Amino acid sequence: MVEPVNVLTQRWDIPDAHTLEGYLDSGGYAALRSALDTAPADLLQMVKDSGLRGRGGAGFPTGVKWGFVPQDTGKPVYLVINADEGEPGTFKDRELMERDPHQLLEGMAISARALSSPRAFIFLRGEYLWPGIRLEEAIAEAYQQGYLGKGILGAEFDFDVTLHYAAGAYICGEETALLDALEGRRGQPRLRPPFPAVAGLYACPTVVNNVETIANVPHIVERGVDWYRSMGTEKSPGPKLFCVSGEVVRPGNYEWPLGTPARTIVDESCGGMLPGRQLKFWAPGGSSTPLLTAEHIDVPMDYEAVAEAGSLLGTTAMMMYSHKTSVVEAVLNWTRFYEHESCGKCTPCREGVFWLAQVLQRILDGGGRDEDLQTLDDVCDNIFGRAFCALGDGATSPIKSSLKYFRDEYTHLIEHGRQPDGIEAHAGVVTDNSGRHRPGPADPTTAPGRPGSTKAAAT
Ligand SMILES: Cc1cc2nc3c(=O)[nH]c(=O)nc-3n(C[C@H](O)[C@H](O)[C@H](O)COP(=O)(O)O)c2cc1C
Ligand code: SF4
Repeated sequence: MVEPVNVLTQRWDIPDAHTLEGYLDSGGYAALRSALDTAPADLLQMVKDSGLRGRGGAGFPTGVKWGFVPQDTGKPVYLVINADEGEPGTFKDRELMERDPHQLLEGMAISARALSSPRAFIFLRGEYLWPGIRLEEAIAEAYQQGYLGKGILGAEFDFDVTLHYAAGAYICGEETALLDALEGRRGQPRLRPPFPAVAGLYACPTVVNNVETIANVPHIVERGVDWYRSMGTEKSPGPKLFCVSGEVVRPGNYEWPLGTPARTIVDESCGGMLPGRQLKFWAPGGSSTPLLTAEHIDVPMDYEAVAEAGSLLGTTAMMMYSHKTSVVEAVLNWTRFYEHESCGKCTPCREGVFWLAQVLQRILDGGGRDEDLQTLDDVCDNIFGRAFCALGDGATSPIKSSLKYFRDEYTHLIEHGRQPDGIEAHAGVVTDNSGRHRPGPADPTTAPGRPGSTKAAAT
């Protein structure tokens, strides 16, 4: 039977783990010491062999990405940490930075050593003030004690870190828009090639990695590739933070091996669905991933199995909704988000997502027309694969998948001008970036959401 793991979250219950002293007392920076005695090429090979895949959404193999970086250009190599965390439902990086900021810094220093990079930037979501304060304190302490800066820990290796507060736009999580924003420009995606590995920040070779991805690195170096691969599946190895929200008893971040069935996470860590509510639909990896239904609840949460079930693992932000929630209302909510966040660079997304929102709103308001479902399908098909970046594709996911599984609900709204019986307005419990319940306006729920870490319930 699969058990929860305690790797990335191992210090979350230690009150002072966010301080350098607390981090050192719990074995911190041992992996960096060992990395400083290891050749960069060997470190890179270790990460390649571990099978670590990017945790920012796409699951690209981290070691392979690092291998694309040319080392002979005469330009500096930059490491950029993507801490923008804008995908709806996602709140794992927030807790990683708040509770264990040195884990990220140690991972960054080791990764920089592997890449021979002298400087890294943390591109932090602007609203993340508390993680920002924790990171600022940790960076200052690390500089004072020689874990960052010139000749770190006496080795011939200089490494600097700059924390950058982003202005707050979902598109700036897309890695090339992020680089433009970091350079001080309006954040819009860049044409590729060239890829950032070759010409990224300031036209220099650049690696962009997610916070959780880099938090894995010290553990791989310290405990080895075989230990790392003992968790998860052959193609999706390692531990994973699942951020579960919606109509479950205990929403929050829970660490399990990749490949753990969704049902196990929801039942054992979250205490199942709220009393009296049965699972109707869920997103496995944020709102950009196609919705699944109660039939899919036994899917193993790894990249391959979720794709086979017709969706994507994405950011592993599992948003769970019950029979009381209107799928059309939830889909409109996400579509309004994409409409607002579309950067406007390309026509299919800028115009198409606007019109998708108009049609969905009309259906929900009781003015739906017979041809509306065909219009939704057509507009989605003209965005998907034709937009400049993945935001456009993602915007179509909830619509296309809800039309596939819940067409009857749309049809009922169009024919009767109201929701089917049993559906309550705003029934879906809204969660913020802490994973805590925020009751929807028309249904103040008494859900026993709990503040802070949910890890204790997972173990
Ligand atoms: C619209 C959009 C938003 C994104 N937002 C984030 C984000 O907030 N954080 C993140 O790590 N990756 C985000 N990504 C993915 C990044 O482009 C990139 O793939 C990722 O940072 C690479 O890191 P990884 O290989 O460690 O996953 C986003 C992608 C798109 C298309
Ligand atoms: S799909 Fe086009 S308009 Fe939409 S965010 Fe990407 S580049 Fe901007």
